[in-house]
Amino acid sequence: MATVNGSYPGPTIYAREGDRVVVAVTNRVAYNVTIHWHGLKQRRNGWADGPAYVTQCPIQPGGTYAYDFNVTGQRGTLWWHAHIAWLRATVNGAIVVLPARGVPYPFPKPDAEAEIILGEWWHADVEAVEKQGRALGMAPNTSDAHTINGKPGPLFPCSEKHTHALQVQWGKTYLLRIINAAVNDELFFSIAGHTMTVVEIDATYTKPLSASAIQLSPGQTTNVLVRADQRPGRYFMAAKPFNDAAVPADNKTATAILQYAGVPASVLPAPPRLMPETNGTGFVAAFHDRLRSLNSARYPAALPLAVDRRLLYAIGLNIDPCASCPKGSRLAASLNNITFVMPRVALLQAHYGGLKGVFTADFPDRPPARFNYTGAPLTAGLGTSLGTRLSRVAYNASVELVLQDTNLLSVETHPFHLHGYNFFVVGRGVGNFDPTKDPSKYNLVDPPERNTVGVPAGGWTAIRFRADNPGVWFLHCHLEVHTSWGLRMAFLVEDGDGPDESVLPPPKDLPEC
Ligand code: C2O
Repeated sequence: MATVNGSYPGPTIYAREGDRVVVAVTNRVAYNVTIHWHGLKQRRNGWADGPAYVTQCPIQPGGTYAYDFNVTGQRGTLWWHAHIAWLRATVNGAIVVLPARGVPYPFPKPDAEAEIILGEWWHADVEAVEKQGRALGMAPNTSDAHTINGKPGPLFPCSEKHTHALQVQWGKTYLLRIINAAVNDELFFSIAGHTMTVVEIDATYTKPLSASAIQLSPGQTTNVLVRADQRPGRYFMAAKPFNDAAVPADNKTATAILQYAGVPASVLPAPPRLMPETNGTGFVAAFHDRLRSLNSARYPAALPLAVDRRLLYAIGLNIDPCASCPKGSRLAASLNNITFVMPRVALLQAHYGGLKGVFTADFPDRPPARFNYTGAPLTAGLGTSLGTRLSRVAYNASVELVLQDTNLLSVETHPFHLHGYNFFVVGRGVGNFDPTKDPSKYNLVDPPERNTVGVPAGGWTAIRFRADNPGVWFLHCHLEVHTSWGLRMAFLVEDGDGPDESVLPPPKDLPEC
């Protein structure tokens, strides 16, 4: 299994807002590797962003590349992960960006902090799992376990007998930095006997929100405050899947233990808190609807109120012909009927160097045909095509993107991640987005600001951002199974005219393809 510095999860990167961070990556495995710093905006500096063939060619076995970036205007919990094939299953870790020195949190200072990384585990080489799925044209095998800080906990018949334990002292308050690093599973998280107060999501502060359970999609992070104010004992923390699609759901609950100081490890933990149902659509909708950005004088919600560019992207699952597959077909996925094909050189390099023939900049702003996106299941193909097509966006344009799930094959939730930006989630709903009615229900005051958002199964999500970061920025479903099927595209944000408005020159050690 591929890891960084021999650990799973890998080492946490601690930085402060305003720091310059240099991470020298040497590839000692047999696969091509890149590392992505998920949620760091990398303004003008896509060279350090990391998605393979989007912003850089991979680091080949034996190669080295130094990711060099500034952490500007951001603080909170993010994470890093491999961004090629499925390697991120084991190549990931936390990024903790502390506020600049002397700047307090906008909530009571916790007594201590801890990272909680939720992961997904296969008793197999994940690269082989993905390859097998691809060869068969079917969904790859689901994982064998979930993990909390690398340990599955006692509910799995795993050879790993250790359970992650978080030591706490009675009366103290802890800031837990929770990261969903799973490959394909959306997760719930809860702590028996304790209520959590959400104070940050995706490294943006929120209005405090108290919750008995939270939900995170792969790619998302959530910071919660927890007070150790219960009878001293041992309490289960639990992570279990959220899945409301008509595809097989598993119910593998990973556990860890919140352990009060002075309580012997032989004491049986209190049973896990009753979690939302695996298909708990209602819980998830209510939880996300309650999230609000802090929107204080110091941390205002810089939401574009006027929109220059309106986009509607329909999410589709498809069955494509496949001559080499046993069934003669394979599962694929598309946005606006386009299954995105990765190029052989990096898109950002092609854009910066004026290399022709790598991509076209004609990704459609809306689906080629209107249909009842979320009506009865549709099995017919809609004329899906393959392409490396980017959407060109003018510098500083304000963009509204509505991501619309469809019932092509089946409805399913899709966590979409945009590189290079945070965005505001101004609305979400079930059914088909209605451009005449739904915008009147938008939250244009304090919508949650994030880098990854769940599109509800059979529903839609509307996000807004200002395109003030020039470069090529990946947009994709963060369920790796869907990304590899083609549920991805990229924005080409043009340079502006000002001195600080163009893509920086590439670093000298940028890998070649
Ligand atoms: Cu966390 Cu493009 O990824």
